[in-house]
Amino acid sequence: MCPIIRRTSTYRYTVIRMAFDIEKLLRDEVRDLPIYSPGKSPEEIARELCIEDCIKMASNENPLGPSPKAMEAMAQALSTVNIYPDGDSYTLRQALADKLGLRPECLMVSHGVDEALDLMAYAFLSRDDEMVVGEPTFTSYELAARTMGALVRRVPLKDYCQDIPGMLDAVNEKTAMMVLCSPLNPTGTAVSRTELELVLNSLPENKILIFDEAYIEYATDPGLPHALEYLKDYPGLVITRTFSKIYGLAGLRVGYAICSPEVRGALEKVKLPFNVNRLGQVAALASLEDEEHVRRSREENERGKQRIYRLLEELGLEYVPTQANFILVNNGNYADLFDRLLRRGVIVRAGEPLGIPGHIRITVGDEHQNDRLEQALRAIVAEG
Ligand SMILES: Cc1ncc(COP(=O)(O)O)c(C=O)c1O
Repeated sequence: MCPIIRRTSTYRYTVIRMAFDIEKLLRDEVRDLPIYSPGKSPEEIARELCIEDCIKMASNENPLGPSPKAMEAMAQALSTVNIYPDGDSYTLRQALADKLGLRPECLMVSHGVDEALDLMAYAFLSRDDEMVVGEPTFTSYELAARTMGALVRRVPLKDYCQDIPGMLDAVNEKTAMMVLCSPLNPTGTAVSRTELELVLNSLPENKILIFDEAYIEYATDPGLPHALEYLKDYPGLVITRTFSKIYGLAGLRVGYAICSPEVRGALEKVKLPFNVNRLGQVAALASLEDEEHVRRSREENERGKQRIYRLLEELGLEYVPTQANFILVNNGNYADLFDRLLRRGVIVRAGEPLGIPGHIRITVGDEHQNDRLEQALRAIVAEG
């Protein structure tokens, strides 16, 4: 109930109560929508558990931070934030196009990949449509589709990998979109060249394939596809990438979709006028040019990854070899591994909310974070 005060005579005011039933107002699609759960922050843990020196290895951020060039570019741009940003992200789009060898018409810069996914859903999904995804996978695909009332067909993973034949079997005349995540969050496995070609060649006409490569810059397997090469022959292919991961700009929210000019034109219609802020645009541009920072970030990740692999093997904990900057670990005999790490000030992601109970997902950290992880894991295993 919402009180409303109405003047009933010169000196009298009456409080009127009006019925306000949120359930009646809500769209059916939104009523049952779960809220995205981002995992715990060190501040939350400090408040809840009174642990002050927590480290976060949970959200697949770059532990080296942003490129120094990005910080400098932002410092210079600070005095211009009274001016709206370029709604078209023209300079950044041009730079991405040059780097990727594409026309700028094939690029849509967005407020993170999350926005690109929403735009895809706004533009292409409605109540009678279906989306095919792996289970588990990154949850934003499903949230975007369900917001538009589309039905999501989830196809369980096989051996921690997206089951490509199974996903193709789930396609029917109502399917508007399939989403492949490669490397896959939360397992770190990736789609091979053969698998991508199978999907592109098997999907019936007029279907969209979103190929989410948020972590692709970390991948080391030479057998992975260069998805960009398929764009010219498959106008329904949409590749998504981000500045949140290896470029270290998660807090600024900049991502992009690489697609046909036709798809881009559709996304233009539904995006906000100024979707990417000024600081984000200049920081992304400077980050793109700082290849040294990307190289260091990749090397640091590789070093940390190998170190965590060795540690897990020594402690007898099973893990999934990763193409990304996170490692999925089987809890094994330590059912409450997530909580026990948390109590030692190490925040990782619990498998349950990611749709893979019995596991934790650890973001590869810098040396200090990996030291803390090692101490905590050793102590837990020693306790039994
Ligand atoms: C697979 C995947 N895609 C997209 C995103 C979102 O990226 P952005 O920060 O650009 O919205 C994430 C974030 O964790 C992710 O794991």
